[in-house]
Amino acid sequence: MLYPTPLEKLSSPVFDKKGLEIWVKRDDLCHPEVSGNKFRKLKFNLLKAKELKKETLISFGGAYSNHIYALAAAAQLFDFKSEAIIRGQELNENSSPTLTFASQKGMKMHFVTRSDYRDKAALSSNFSDESKFFIPEGGSNQYALPGCAEIIDEVLTEITPTHFCLAAGTGGTAAGVLSNKNFKGEVYGFPALKNGGFLINEIQGLLQEPTDRLSFFEEYHFGGYAKYNDTLLKFIKDFESEFDILLEHIYTAKLFFGVFDLIEKGQFPTGSKIVIYHSGGLQGRLPILSEN
Ligand SMILES: Cc1ncc(COP(=O)(O)O)c(C=O)c1O
Repeated sequence: MLYPTPLEKLSSPVFDKKGLEIWVKRDDLCHPEVSGNKFRKLKFNLLKAKELKKETLISFGGAYSNHIYALAAAAQLFDFKSEAIIRGQELNENSSPTLTFASQKGMKMHFVTRSDYRDKAALSSNFSDESKFFIPEGGSNQYALPGCAEIIDEVLTEITPTHFCLAAGTGGTAAGVLSNKNFKGEVYGFPALKNGGFLINEIQGLLQEPTDRLSFFEEYHFGGYAKYNDTLLKFIKDFESEFDILLEHIYTAKLFFGVFDLIEKGQFPTGSKIVIYHSGGLQGRLPILSEN
């Protein structure tokens, strides 16, 4: 594990001309298998599970879930067994690279129908016993918050940002960042899914208080969760060759695209110090992005 992760400044005449400092918090570099916001969200869950002397970590997810991937790897690293309730009765351990990886890490999987999957409370009670520690879908619960708050602590040892920009899926990372009261700047969220505005309520629920420091920019979903088009693919290729930082199409490319678009539109006042959070997920990077 690499902590603190690097905070890198991006250089470009475009940013200089606008009087902006752009920094990237490189959580993609923290670990090859438990990277990005995943370990941030899991850390205090794992500590709680150890404290409660639980043997097995169990969670929910889809066939391409970054959370399931990271959970399987983290469980093995920290001597837990792992289980997952997977959406899709028709699937098996080899239905996606994520599931294959997780099963190689020793994760036991329960495949359930899409309609059964919706009733998490019923599933939790069906699959629960004394030895298991349940972690919600995406890893976003109260224990995710202090881990994500540590991202801000690390940043504040180096710079004081005016804006912290992140991708949002369940909102747990945003809630954790906002829970750190040492950070007084704005948090800009970029939902990876269509109509992601509902996440504001989820985030306030996790925070257990309203916040006026969070703004959501909902127009960068590119058609919905995991959807992409040629514009996004071209952006990824151009970005990677200019800055030598890899992106994936589900979360981080949409985030960086959105921030760069807002920069162009003059959203950030001159003098802003903007941190863009690289939340990892690179195991889901499209193979076509590696072709020339
Ligand atoms: C790579 C990556 N970035 C960002 C997110 C979004 O984080 P959150 O669900 O905490 O909003 C996820 C999913 O959880 C993810 O896998």
